[in-house]
Amino acid sequence: MKYGYFDDKNREYVITRPDTPLPWINYLGCQDYFGIISATAGGYSYYRDARLRRITRGRYNNVPFDFGGRYIYLRDDTSGEFWSPSWMPTRGALEQYECRHGMGYSTISSTLNGIAASTRYFVPLDETLEIWQLTLTNNRPEPAELSVFSSVEFCLWDAMDDSTNFQRNFSIGQVEIDDEVIYHKTEYRERRNHFAWFACSEKLAGFDTQREAFLGPWRGWDKPAAVERGESAGSVAHGWSPIGSHHVRARFAPGETRQIIYVLGYNENKVEEKFDPPGSQTVNKKTVKPLIAKYRERANVDAAFERLRAYWDGLLGIYQVSTPDEHTDRMVNIWNAYQCMATFNMSRSASTFESGIGRGLGFRDSNQDLLGFVHMVPERARQRILDLAATQLPTGGAYHQYQPLTKKGNNDVGGNFNDDPHWLIVGVGAYLKETGDWGILDEPVMFDSAPGSEQPLYEHLRRSFRYTLERLGPHGLPLIGRADWNDCLNLNCFSDTPGQSFQTTTSKDGKVAESVFIAGLFVLAAKELAAIATRRGQKGDAKACLEEAARMDETVRKHGWDGEWFVRAYDDFGRKIGSNECEEGKIFIESQGFCVLAGIGLEDGMARKALDSVRKHLATPHGIVLQQPAYSRYYIEYGEISSYPPGYKENAGIFCHNNPWVIIGETMLGNGDAAHDYYSRINPSARETISEVHRCEPYVYAQMIAGRDAPTHGEAKNSWLTGTAAWNYYAITQWILGIRPEYEGLRIAPVVPQGWKGFNATRKFRGVTYRIAVSRKGTGNKLSLKVDGKAIDGSVIPVPTDGRKDVKIEAVIG
Ligand code: GLC
Ligand code: GLC
Repeated sequence: MKYGYFDDKNREYVITRPDTPLPWINYLGCQDYFGIISATAGGYSYYRDARLRRITRGRYNNVPFDFGGRYIYLRDDTSGEFWSPSWMPTRGALEQYECRHGMGYSTISSTLNGIAASTRYFVPLDETLEIWQLTLTNNRPEPAELSVFSSVEFCLWDAMDDSTNFQRNFSIGQVEIDDEVIYHKTEYRERRNHFAWFACSEKLAGFDTQREAFLGPWRGWDKPAAVERGESAGSVAHGWSPIGSHHVRARFAPGETRQIIYVLGYNENKVEEKFDPPGSQTVNKKTVKPLIAKYRERANVDAAFERLRAYWDGLLGIYQVSTPDEHTDRMVNIWNAYQCMATFNMSRSASTFESGIGRGLGFRDSNQDLLGFVHMVPERARQRILDLAATQLPTGGAYHQYQPLTKKGNNDVGGNFNDDPHWLIVGVGAYLKETGDWGILDEPVMFDSAPGSEQPLYEHLRRSFRYTLERLGPHGLPLIGRADWNDCLNLNCFSDTPGQSFQTTTSKDGKVAESVFIAGLFVLAAKELAAIATRRGQKGDAKACLEEAARMDETVRKHGWDGEWFVRAYDDFGRKIGSNECEEGKIFIESQGFCVLAGIGLEDGMARKALDSVRKHLATPHGIVLQQPAYSRYYIEYGEISSYPPGYKENAGIFCHNNPWVIIGETMLGNGDAAHDYYSRINPSARETISEVHRCEPYVYAQMIAGRDAPTHGEAKNSWLTGTAAWNYYAITQWILGIRPEYEGLRIAPVVPQGWKGFNATRKFRGVTYRIAVSRKGTGNKLSLKVDGKAIDGSVIPVPTDGRKDVKIEAVIG
């Protein structure tokens, strides 16, 4: 069953009924001002940090789930009837409803009793404000008298305090109303120098800024008293819950169309210029007034929207493909790339499943996210790398996360995840291959954000590498520390206390438990670092990296091979995890995927065997589960992984983040059919027709789909903010389609299904546009390449040195 359809031409997903199984959201904003918006106008906005600079309120644990938003109410002043054109929050029947989620905007439209309403929500580039562009049309044969009410509920900035510290909150709310603009200025009188404002393009009939005055006593947002009676209360908030609501009255002739523009903004003033006049308590509005004047004009709003469109056309135009599979095309050309940008902007902070309160930017997560967006925003990727590296510890270890506002690492979600440092090498490698910007390696970067500790970025990579060598366990495999990629494999935690965090508790000294996954990651990262060192002329480093990679490869074969697949880990008692010897959790996906990715066992059949075991034991029609058999009880020595009921999350759920490791592994073994088949099982677009099972948005990946042990097998959760986005993008674009940036140029090495006759792609790379036509002559993957008509050896196309900006590539495979 579907709840809408893809409009690929306009790069939109069109939701045709408001009662989606879960909130189906989109993101607004590209730089500093961001918002979540659902198909029924739910969601909230923030400036840079979803916790510390929350502009509007989102409600947690609400019923209905999706509550609090950018709500507009329409009232027929003749009959007194009122409704929400976005369905929520009044939820009355609408004659027609549609939400178009597009690139950085959402348009929600509906019709009731001859009144058509359509609101386009977006954040203009380079501004810290959002626009709601409401178009109203009277399709009745007679005039219509309408009242239009807007509403937002302001958050008292720190979203955590806002939802907990009521003894203070109910006394601090402050607003100003000036020239019909509503200013929210809670705490501005003391240490804040930022405020929010909410303006409307039309002359107002009234306004409200105190929630209870607008709603009326004992009422909810579905039935505000002001809307019901057709008149605002003119309330000024002192404490309690500041809101912003404008009331506009308008008479529409038959057939008449009109726009009302709302602008919600965030501004900061210099500390010395906070008040105007100086010495008063009145917000200085000098920086805001020109913005208000500008965006009250429709032409300026339309121009800002066109700029936003052009921005996305530019980003998405860097990699476009046309294949025999529409789901592949749609994800590569539009949605998967778009989701990668969302993970760049939001990391794991704000979504339907991430509260915006708990998680900053993860070290591991952000480095992996680079794989998905580095080609679109290389300069910003560069800055991200430098920011991440500056939080690295002198030992080479890493804080697990840092806060975007301070850019300092913290241990709030634990530290000593022993895989963390290597992701920096992976991220930097991806950046270098895309850009060829070798200068980044010489950038001085602090350790632990401490001024004076700067060393070239390259030294950070060396320390990442050494970190593991200094932390080897009894079998010579890397010690796992708090956990590895799998945050829930907590082998040193031994927690028996309810509520204790698995991510921050440690009960063992951690000298025994080892990770085969980190071993695989280490081999991959060491080879990458060797490649980097070689090109930098650091021969000694390169040699050491390759030697250690070879040694670890051997250790894995010796102690990390279980006969038919790779072992997952050794626990604190030195017993195997992910082995036939185990009662449960006999085989895990991570070590199969990553050891193959690292090239371990490619030649001698071990890799093939491991992936055959994945197929046999872990593959389901909904994707590949994380392990089998699921843990049926809590194992104190394994930690959080066994805390989840079977089939969910890390306990045998389908983690869409690691499925691509197997997909890539299959391409490395030349098996395009298997690779694309796995790819399609979790491709959200390919799952659109089972939306009632999948339940999350069909246009973006979810972190997890319930595994076969779960009663809700096939049900997705945690959509949007997940490493799944980058990894699937990387797997399809670079390994299946095989258009892969390398240090020396662009590699063309497709491993596509046998049934594909070919495909075309455009890839912009280091300032050159490559137009690539791939055709199939036989059933294999053997490749012959012509560059601008001339046959070349090998599969890497060097960047032209003769100034050509457009290069034609013909590839024949078979
Ligand atoms: C979450 C985390 C990621 C981790 C994964 C597996 O997606 O963000 O860092 O690797 O879970 O536990
Ligand atoms: C929990 C989740 C895991 C996530 C971690 C983040 O352990 O299961 O997926 O990575 O929290 O702290």
